[in-house]
Amino acid sequence: MVFKKNFLWGGASAANQYEGAYASGNRGLSAIDVLTNGSNESARKVTWENNKGITGETPLIWGEEFDLPENITLKEIPGYHYPSQHGTDFYHHFKEDIKMMADAGFKTFRMSISWSRIFPNGDDKEPNQNGLDFYDQVFDECLKYKIEPMVTLCHYDTPLSLVQRYGGWSNRILIKLFDRYVNTVFNRYKNRVKYWTTFNEINAMDLCPYMGGGLMHPTPENIARGAHNQFVASAKAVKAAHSINSKMQVGQMLAYSPQYAYTCDPKDQIEVMKAQRTSLFYADVQVGGRYPEYRLNEYKKQNIRLDDSPEDYELIKNYTADFLSFSCYGSTVMTTHQQEKGSSGNLGVNSINNPYLETNAWGWSLDPDCLRLALNTLWERYHKPLWIVENGLGWDDKLNSDNTIHDDYRIKYLRSAVKSMSEAVTLDGVDLMGYTLWTPIDLVSNGTGEMKKRYGLVYVDCDDKGNGTMKRYKKDSYSWYKRVIASNGEDLGLINK
Ligand code: BG6
Repeated sequence: MVFKKNFLWGGASAANQYEGAYASGNRGLSAIDVLTNGSNESARKVTWENNKGITGETPLIWGEEFDLPENITLKEIPGYHYPSQHGTDFYHHFKEDIKMMADAGFKTFRMSISWSRIFPNGDDKEPNQNGLDFYDQVFDECLKYKIEPMVTLCHYDTPLSLVQRYGGWSNRILIKLFDRYVNTVFNRYKNRVKYWTTFNEINAMDLCPYMGGGLMHPTPENIARGAHNQFVASAKAVKAAHSINSKMQVGQMLAYSPQYAYTCDPKDQIEVMKAQRTSLFYADVQVGGRYPEYRLNEYKKQNIRLDDSPEDYELIKNYTADFLSFSCYGSTVMTTHQQEKGSSGNLGVNSINNPYLETNAWGWSLDPDCLRLALNTLWERYHKPLWIVENGLGWDDKLNSDNTIHDDYRIKYLRSAVKSMSEAVTLDGVDLMGYTLWTPIDLVSNGTGEMKKRYGLVYVDCDDKGNGTMKRYKKDSYSWYKRVIASNGEDLGLINK
């Protein structure tokens, strides 16, 4: 047998892209609710109004400089479309959607709680009962089918009020406010949710600090402080979880991709090393329990001062993550030999195209070996149980007139992904807990805010402007994945074969 008997097969999602119903049940706004839609050619934008009543927008591009003007109020502006507000309406479809996951044999479902559904302003005196009741129902529905919920506490959706008033995670006050939120949901769901992670792709703090930490002014010092505060908050979450129910586990969630040198010039290899550290620094601290020298040297050189205390480092050392979960969609290529950067991907900053690999329409590489490579790097460095919590293929799927969707390209991609991780388990001996592909049901793309960049096993009738019936239609990949799960990863055959 390749995978453990209790291997956690399933799918992953995020409230800000899936849940919708942003104005229902007394939910407050989050940072991502003021982010417009975009496309491959045009960036998503954060919208605002200044103190003279003039409205404006600031483009948000991963890996590129971003700074909001002073004296503005982040807000929705009429005429713009804000796709995260509507997602694909999990809020009203959760029973139907979870049933489809159960029918496919899911053992787990990764989702996130919207912090501003529990504390609409981030610092309210009492939690919002409507929000707590909603997640009660969702978890009960999962458990009805013996699906283990796996919950991200913050998936790019810091409450907007905390962003506006404190400038996001660069302010230490967020550690305290997050701790209240975390304790509220841990106590409420302690007998229903065993697996948790704190911040989705925590290293997004370096690459897109507005998403990662609600930073309005991401100077290098604010970014460093934001990361530090999230490390302390994560350690506190591990501590709280273990004391509330010793069965609960809190993992790290990291964006990680293998990175290749374009040439054998040692300078290219140095580029790879530096690029790798934008991810591995975060695991070195949250999983390894200490700040690595290379980052401390950088802080010194840039005169960056953290707003820290000696107790922070005790927490970081004593309450490391219980497991290391990560997203991995492909790989990237680094070089000093070409100026022109081509390839994309969630870690594609400064990357060029890999001549050996195909890409999708958004420039994300399709690398059949990326999971084996990623699993080995992370296993060798940390020796903590690993969990692939995101992997999948974004494609502009077409719904046929007979309501079918023939996504053989996705089956091909997922098939090589399962093969790659099975090699890491059988040949290399990594300890892999589970695989939750992105995503069971189509949802809004995080990077572009589009609907047409679809990842789901199930198609949702909704277009880039949020129009559509929201009806669900199973794609061919749904049946394929069902067979994979039923055979615990042994049967990777194509459908109809
Ligand atoms: C990951 C994020 O980076 O990639 C998800 O955690 C996101 O939120 C996924 O949806 C795919 O990216 P995109 O931009 O294609 O939606």
